[in-house]
This record gives sequence, C-alpha cells and structure tokens, in this order.
Amino acid sequence: MCGILGYTGERQASDILLSGLAKLEYRGYDSAGLAVLDNGNIKIAKNKGRLKILEERIKAGQEISGTCGIGHTRWATHGEPSDINAHPLWSDDMSVVAVHNGIVENYREIKNMLANYGYEFYSQTDTEAAVKLIDFYYKQEKNPLKAITQAIKKIEGSYCFVLLFKDFPNEVWGARKDLPLIAGQGKGESFLASDVSAILQDTRQVYYLDNMEIVQLKKGLVRFFDTEGYAKHKELSEVTWDAQAAEKGGFEHFMMKEIHEQARAVKDTFGSVFHSNKIDLGEMGLTDERIKAISQIYIIACGSAYHAGAVAQYVIEDLAKIPVRIELASEFRYRNMPMDKNALAIIISQSGETADTLAAMRRAKENKINTLAIVNVVGSTIAREADSVFYTMAGPEIAVATTKAYSAQLIASYVLAVKFAQVRGTIDELQCENLISEIQKLPEKIDEILDEKEPLEEIAQKFVNARNAFYLGRNIDYAVAMEGSLKMKEISYLHSEACAAGEMKHGPISLIERGMLVAGIMTQKDLYQKIASNMLEAKSRGAFLFVVSTRGCKYLKEEADFIFNIPETDEHFSASLSVIPLQLMGYYVAVARKLDVDKPRNLAKSVTVE
Ligand code: G6P
Repeated sequence: MCGILGYTGERQASDILLSGLAKLEYRGYDSAGLAVLDNGNIKIAKNKGRLKILEERIKAGQEISGTCGIGHTRWATHGEPSDINAHPLWSDDMSVVAVHNGIVENYREIKNMLANYGYEFYSQTDTEAAVKLIDFYYKQEKNPLKAITQAIKKIEGSYCFVLLFKDFPNEVWGARKDLPLIAGQGKGESFLASDVSAILQDTRQVYYLDNMEIVQLKKGLVRFFDTEGYAKHKELSEVTWDAQAAEKGGFEHFMMKEIHEQARAVKDTFGSVFHSNKIDLGEMGLTDERIKAISQIYIIACGSAYHAGAVAQYVIEDLAKIPVRIELASEFRYRNMPMDKNALAIIISQSGETADTLAAMRRAKENKINTLAIVNVVGSTIAREADSVFYTMAGPEIAVATTKAYSAQLIASYVLAVKFAQVRGTIDELQCENLISEIQKLPEKIDEILDEKEPLEEIAQKFVNARNAFYLGRNIDYAVAMEGSLKMKEISYLHSEACAAGEMKHGPISLIERGMLVAGIMTQKDLYQKIASNMLEAKSRGAFLFVVSTRGCKYLKEEADFIFNIPETDEHFSASLSVIPLQLMGYYVAVARKLDVDKPRNLAKSVTVE
C-alpha cells in the first residue's frame, strides 16, 4: 500500500509534500517521511507513527528546506513500523534516495548479490535492497535513467518508486509496475503521486503512468521513458473532480460526511447511465446481442466490494435469471476453474487498484472472459485494463471504511440486473419501469433514514464495552449482514460475525452470551418469519436483539430490544436502505469508544499488496 509523492518546482518541497501526504494517509499510516534535495545535499526527516508527528518536528525546526523532494506514508509489509524502516531509504553515500510502494519479492536474492560487492544493510525493508540495486547500477555510469531501467529488469514484484539522485538537482524520478503512479504538470513545477487527490490543490493536468514506464520530473517538465530508455509521448488528462469533495465539510469525520453523501452518490451513479428514460449501457460496449449471449456471470471483488457483489448475485439471478457466482478475488486468482467463454466477469473495486482484484481480473482475461469493471476511481489500473468500465459516481472516498462507494456499487449492479432482465425478456416493460422508478426513489429514502438516525447513537452507547456481535440475515439480508458486520468490526474493533441465519444452529449459537448484540436484517417478506425464529432462538439465550426491518413488518415487535424501520422499497433494492443504520451503528460504537474512525488501526483504504 503506502502513499508516495514527488515534487520539483519553485516552492518549498516540504510544504507541498506534507499537505499531499495528508491526502494519502488513507493508504497507510505506520510511518511518514520526507527527503529534500538542496544544493547537492539530501536532507531526510522521517519517523514511526502518523504524519502529524513529522509535521510537528518540522514545525519545531528540523531543517528540511529545498524545492525538490519526495515523501512517503507507510503501511508496513517488510519490517516493523519503526524510525529506521520508515521511508525514504538511501544508499550509503546518499547518491540515491527513494520512497517505495509495493513489494520487492526477490529482495533477499538482491541483498545477497549486493553483499558480494560490499553493500551492507541497515533496515529490515525490501525497499533498501531496491535502492541499493539502483545505486549499484548508478555507480557504473552516473546515469539515473540507465540505473533505473537496469534495476527494474531485475526487481520482481509490484512497485512504484520515486527517487532523488544527489548529483541531479531539481530532478525527481519514478517508475511503476502494477501499482498506481500519476504525474502532475503545473506552471514551473511538476509532481508525482500515488493518487490524484494528493496534488489536486496544485494541478488538474495529469498523466497516468502505464506499467513499466519511467518518469523524469524537472521544474514544470515531465518526460517518460520505456524500459529500454527510449522517450515516450503521453497524453495529458484533465481531472474534473471537485477538490472540495475531499474535505470534511463540517462533519467530525470523513466517514459521517460520506454516509451523508450516499443519496447523491446513488443519484449520480444512476443518472450517469439513465438517458431519455432508458438505461443506456452503450458506452460500456454492452450491446443487446452481447447481453443475450451471457451464459454465466462471475462477480469478483474484495472487502465491501465483495459484499456489494453478494447483493448483486441475488438481484441479477432473480431478475435476469442468469447464474451468478460471487468470488473473492484473492481466491479466484489461484483457482483453476473451467470457465465458459460466454461468461462475463464483473469486477468491483472502489479504488481500481486492489492487488488481488487486479490479478483476478487478469486471470479472467487470460481465460478469454469478457471483463466489466465497476470502479470509482477514474483512470485507475483496473479501469484501464478492463474490457469495459461502469464508473460509479461516488466521488473521492477518504474514510477507510467505505460507505458511499459501496452504495454506488449497489446501484451499478441494480442497473445491470434490470438491463439484463429487460434485454433477455425475463421482465416486461411495466416491471422494468417500476423497477427503475424504485431505484430513482432510493436517494430520498436514504435521506429519510439519515433524518432518523439519532436513536442509533444512544443504542450504540450500550455496546461500548461489548466484545462480540452477530449479524444475521437470509438472501439479500445476509449479504447486507456481511457488510454491517464488517463496518462494526473494522472501525470499532468489536469482534463481529455475519451469519446466514439458517447456519446459526450449526455452531455459532454456542457463542451467544447474555447481552450480546445480535442484529437481524428483515426486508424480504417471504423470509420474515424464518429470521424472526432465528432471532428468537438467540433471544432465549440472552441476546440483545437489534432489528432492521422494513416498515410494515409485524414480526418481533414485542421481543426485539430495538427496531429500526426503513422505508418500503422493491425488495431487490432493500440493501441500499438497510445498510444505512448498520453503517451508523459501526460509526457510533467507534465514536463512543473514542477510536480513530477514519483511520482504523492496521488497515488501509487501498490494499495494493497481496
Ligand atoms: C480495503 C478497504 C475496503 C474495501 C476493500 C476493497 O479493505 O478498507 O473498504 O472494500 O479494500 O477495495 P476496493 O478499492 O477494491 O473496493
């Protein structure tokens, strides 16, 4: 994971790097560091822990002036979070100094090779091996481009490097393989960053680097090379995102702000494919002929995106009658399953950079399966490599725990389900109109739920000291239970499990203790009674019953300890409403426990390592 940055221009590099790194901290926050090149000297400031610590040290006078520099925020892979393992890392005479995102898989082999030439190592990182390998080649001809191209031919794994060479004032170099790196072009200055949000306040003119490309920044100049050292031409792109969207806008946490942006994300995502009263997927290359030919769908994703896919599975199967398999990307990438050539692989990813999801998509492509990516970040690797892309319109999402991107992913999958059903004739025109009208009403209903959120804050106080929780559901409600449970555990550290309600009796029920939170989701009329029975079984063992049910559901009125009613909608789309109180519960329990809601421990928003 990790966030990396480079800057060269007229302004103080440390100011630019610190404010950019603040936008990248979602990628990891085990340590932070800067290196600035000034008059042939490279100065370094780095430490274990949050960026704030580094900022305070610099404010307190640590000398780091200069107008050319690199920065890093770390999610530790090799070597514990510590001052010494923090990036930047350097060659012994400081000829080469670098920050790195990714994993150098063959670092042991590289270290052994370099040790034969007298190199010694001071950190436990894989990065140091790469920096010293670049230094090794650099010493031969004092040519940064040659040194980088030679080194990346040797390095195995996935990586992005941003580098300074002591003898090349005002220059920053970079290279990428499989992980994102963008270059920004300003007036008299230029930038490198893992993600557009880090440089948006300074420029909207960006280049997206392709795999195995090398980039050189000079003041206001950006040049690209291939691995043979030949110059390459690339097109500039204009970023149209709203920079304001990445600020907290009056909310205490990004997560709460993003929870409140869900109605807008849903509306914009639907609006992007609904033209002249019709769902139009033409831009994605999904012609009627292609849709009719689909024999099987694989939905491939990780984390919450997988949970959105789990909802999509039920909705697509029920409406379009196409068999759907939902696959964890980390498993799918190593499976050898026979795949039908007329299958469609739907890849879901907010960031478009998740390493396992990207690898799984590539695997589907190797099998000659058509790939459609549902992605939020424009220009991300998955978006660029997929056969076609359905962009969700959630806007930049900062909180590590996803909310609005998940909601937008649900809408994208409803759109696909309705369109597939319409084209394949499994619903008639009237049903299609009704379904579309129900999707259009979701934003208003989401806001209605948010207006009624207060009691949840109070209930959450009861679980400040809780240790375990269960989330139960069946069908779509089970898929939502998985997401609700993840929201709770990832930000509040309360151990929580989602359980297909029918499975409770096969083991999990033995864990129920007096007062334990058991959340039941009840939005599918045919299954009300079944869930109600499972909840009562938990109640009779002492559980606290927290129910999210559709208005009008008559079950558990007496027995539940708390019921949160959501507005009625078509049952296929209930996840978009039932998930909201569950997101809020996770949030309120985390706040009550005084935890860092937006940056939970050990996590990162974009998991770009395996
Ligand atoms: C991380 C994030 C999750 C996200 C998952 C998949 O674990 O914390 O919120 O669902 O990665 O990320 P993606 O960007 O592929 O949706």
